[in-house]
Amino acid sequence: VKQIQIAIDGPAGAGKSTIAKIVAEKLGFTYIDTGAMYRAVTYKALTHNIKLNDADSLEKMLLDTMIVLKPSQNGQLVFVDGKDVTQEIRSNEVTSNVSEVAAHANIREILVAKQQELAANGGIVMDGRDIATHVLKDAELKIFMSASVEERAKRRFFDNERRGIPSTMEKLREEIALRDKLDSEREASPLVQAEDAIYLDTTELSIEQAADAILELANETG
Ligand code: C5P
Repeated sequence: VKQIQIAIDGPAGAGKSTIAKIVAEKLGFTYIDTGAMYRAVTYKALTHNIKLNDADSLEKMLLDTMIVLKPSQNGQLVFVDGKDVTQEIRSNEVTSNVSEVAAHANIREILVAKQQELAANGGIVMDGRDIATHVLKDAELKIFMSASVEERAKRRFFDNERRGIPSTMEKLREEIALRDKLDSEREASPLVQAEDAIYLDTTELSIEQAADAILELANETG
């Protein structure tokens, strides 16, 4: 396969990161989880008591922050100012606050530039909310991945269980629906399917089936 760019967008819990990781590994590509960057900014803001609605303070903080994504066996490690925060950025507190941070246009601008830099040489699988529509508009393969809210809540539930994070189905359903709403209705780069993206509904698909579907498309493309 050529060193193409594969953009995968979709709502929380659609299976993007799990599937993107497998696709990247099978193709020998680099996987980049852009949600982790928004989470990293949110994590630092929370630990530094910076108001999440204060776009200027957040920007000032971000310009003074080093976010490093390191490919690892299980996907990607995330470092903020040299500290490994891979686990911390998945906490409930970060998860329930990240959409507020991600709604600021100035914060997005800085992170998008970084994402474009990381993807410049191709051979990349990047997942997020605005990859096909903004970050990598020329990506050779664009996927919009979704699944029913019920199925996504179920996946998050088992995912949390595995990580030892307490949660209930009802709470997760609510949280997923709210994050969908915030991400889709915001003004700056809302979550929306790109015109040239292929829709992939993973509700009834296993992880392997979804990954295979994308790999097949990648082989046709590359
Ligand atoms: O993918 P993940 O659930 O980790 O993303 C966390 C949040 O980061 C999303 O709910 C969204 O608000 C934001 N995000 C974004 N643009 C991206 C990736 C994530 O706005 N490209």
